[in-house]
Amino acid sequence: MINYEQDDNGLVTLTIDMPDRSANVWNQASMDAFSEALERAAADESCTGIIIASAKKVFLAGADLDALKAMAFGDKDPVALNATVGALSVLLRRLETCGKTVVAAIEGAALGGGFELALACHHRVVADSPRLQLGLPESQLGLLPGAGGTQRLPRLIGIQASMPLLLEGKQLTPDKALKAGIIDQVVPRGEVVAAAKAWALANPEATQPWDDKRFKVPGGGLDDPKTLSTFMVATALLNAKTHGNYPAGKAILSCMFEGLRTTLDAGLLIEKRYFLKLLLDPTAGAMIRTMFLSLQDANKLVRRPAGIERRAPKKLGVLGSGLMGSGIAFVAAKKGMEVVVLDVDAEKAAGAIAYASKRLDKAISRGRSTEEKKAATLARITATADYAALDGCDLVIEAVFEDRDVKAKVTAAADAVLGDSAVFGSNTSTLPITGLAKASSRPENFIGLHFFSPVEKMPLVEVIRAEKTSDQTLAWALDAVQALGKTPIVVNDARGFYTSRVFGTYITEGMAMLQEGIAPALIENAGKMSGMPMPPLGLADEVGLGLMYQVGIQTKKDLGDAAPVNPSTPVLEKLVTEFDRSGKRSGRGFYAYDDAGRQLWDGLAESFPAKADQPTADDLIERFLYTQALEAARCMDQGVVQAKEDADVGAILGWGFAPYTGGPLSYIDRIGAKAFVERADALAEAHGKRFEPPALLRTMAADGTAFYG
Ligand code: NAI
Repeated sequence: MINYEQDDNGLVTLTIDMPDRSANVWNQASMDAFSEALERAAADESCTGIIIASAKKVFLAGADLDALKAMAFGDKDPVALNATVGALSVLLRRLETCGKTVVAAIEGAALGGGFELALACHHRVVADSPRLQLGLPESQLGLLPGAGGTQRLPRLIGIQASMPLLLEGKQLTPDKALKAGIIDQVVPRGEVVAAAKAWALANPEATQPWDDKRFKVPGGGLDDPKTLSTFMVATALLNAKTHGNYPAGKAILSCMFEGLRTTLDAGLLIEKRYFLKLLLDPTAGAMIRTMFLSLQDANKLVRRPAGIERRAPKKLGVLGSGLMGSGIAFVAAKKGMEVVVLDVDAEKAAGAIAYASKRLDKAISRGRSTEEKKAATLARITATADYAALDGCDLVIEAVFEDRDVKAKVTAAADAVLGDSAVFGSNTSTLPITGLAKASSRPENFIGLHFFSPVEKMPLVEVIRAEKTSDQTLAWALDAVQALGKTPIVVNDARGFYTSRVFGTYITEGMAMLQEGIAPALIENAGKMSGMPMPPLGLADEVGLGLMYQVGIQTKKDLGDAAPVNPSTPVLEKLVTEFDRSGKRSGRGFYAYDDAGRQLWDGLAESFPAKADQPTADDLIERFLYTQALEAARCMDQGVVQAKEDADVGAILGWGFAPYTGGPLSYIDRIGAKAFVERADALAEAHGKRFEPPALLRTMAADGTAFYG
């Protein structure tokens, strides 16, 4: 676990090398081994200093998976937790006060508990590698760095400078970390240990600055008026950004505010208390489960059918070079795939190359790419109108107009050139895949691959299995999503699939509120306060009111009287047909758009007069979250989504569903099925059938079960 090596100068190098793991992590075994090696060196008079290194690519990645699982699913008994939490904090305190100089020799990523180890060393030497990441990302999982991070970092670089690193979990590359002062030296790869040794020899009696009685927090301590205003502004900004939904941010600020007034030892105890508090709050557990454990599983393709050989596409065909087709082609070419983009004529198809070129220029201007890389990426994209060029593609993704006939035409034309094992994916956002597959002579090779816009930024792909889709096609489609660097969720073929269907209920609810006479500004603010990334009416403008109105008409045509009653219909009809306001693209929607920005259209007050008795923001927040959670539960009930994990991951990655909840199903668990059903029934009584809970939830309420055991 730890290689112990002493050189002729008496320097001891502890090289962490956990067996059977790709990265070093903190767990009981590694802490025990580390502690033992540390005590051996500390007790050895011939030891002149300690260097801490790693035998892995990653220096140390933080807590191990089991520890994270315990945090997400484990016992929430505060007494038991109090006894187990905090061991690493004690170990790291021992490290920096063991009487020897300790230097971190970092040649790979040091994150979370890994970076806290580095902070507890007297000096940090890091390899010059632009890919190496350093930082404390705990807040992104609803936690705080609980092994001294909230105490050592502000004592090292000052309160204000450490705030973004702690509150946002920002990760830095070595050059930026050096500038920020969180590391001390950057040296070429391969020279890290030597540099660390040189520093240790030159500084045989190093101690931490905070253990000096005269220590002052750099940039001003808590009694400095500047610091007080820093806390005031930080608290205000945090609340404006998170609306009190994320307890971690507040806990981190409290750790700093209370901990920096006292000694490091007392500060560490304060930090431990806040860490425990976060563990006992449902937010951290839900975020760890969905944003770490379930996400990791989805990326590992746990839903992939077994026994089928892996096949990542080498040559990808993209039909349609519009917004989506260009985005998909760009991402694929960047990943090294050969891409053929086809459109009605070669000139139109070349739009995809122009799109990629523009993106790459932007990346170059920001120092994130080079002219050589750009040339190589563009060279991989062929633009054409000739179907023969698709010969040899192992995957074709169709992204032409949202029109059944156009899609059928291009499907048949591609079909004629493709080999028997080529997978055909449609990026349709609304048309049922089983129907589209009829245009193919190999419906078993046909699948839905629903990307989100903008493709290069959005991490999710909704993979839609149609009636005849084979296991092999599903497996290869998942391989392709993985090769494109995206996260897949697997859903069955049903109107709106999963994401569009559930996401739509949020917008619908906003419009229903408007129709009821609730003030638009209240609706929009409550939407943001619920944790959604955008307010519902603003979002409706982005999607396009005209488009939504058309989809409603089409649904009514397709389903007749079976079409669900949608409370947004009269609102859309009024805006689109009466006022000619079809959304953001036209510059007119729920908002008025001009060069100065956007503001709610003042005509709304007249068309939807506000009632005298306005609800509270909390009432509206509840409706926003319930309507989405209920629709997600219906999707589970109807088998549209099979894995609860996919429902939660897809919601957060796909449309930004309030991440602090861990997803819509986690939100139901948090409330408890029984209480949730009771409340949903009351909302149904007050606002309509759309709040009626599905059978699945009633059963769960009666049995006292939860989605997550
Ligand atoms: P777009 O209008 O930007 O691009 C469509 C492209 O298809 C155009 O370049 C057009 O010339 C081409 N095309 C039309 N008929 C063709 C034919 N017969 N042969 C070859 N090319 C033809 O549309 P966009 O937004 O890229 O959407 C494409 C598909 O992706 C649609 O099915 C849409 O529902 C879906 N989608 C769109 C999203 C969005 O945010 N825009 C998100 C997810 C899916």
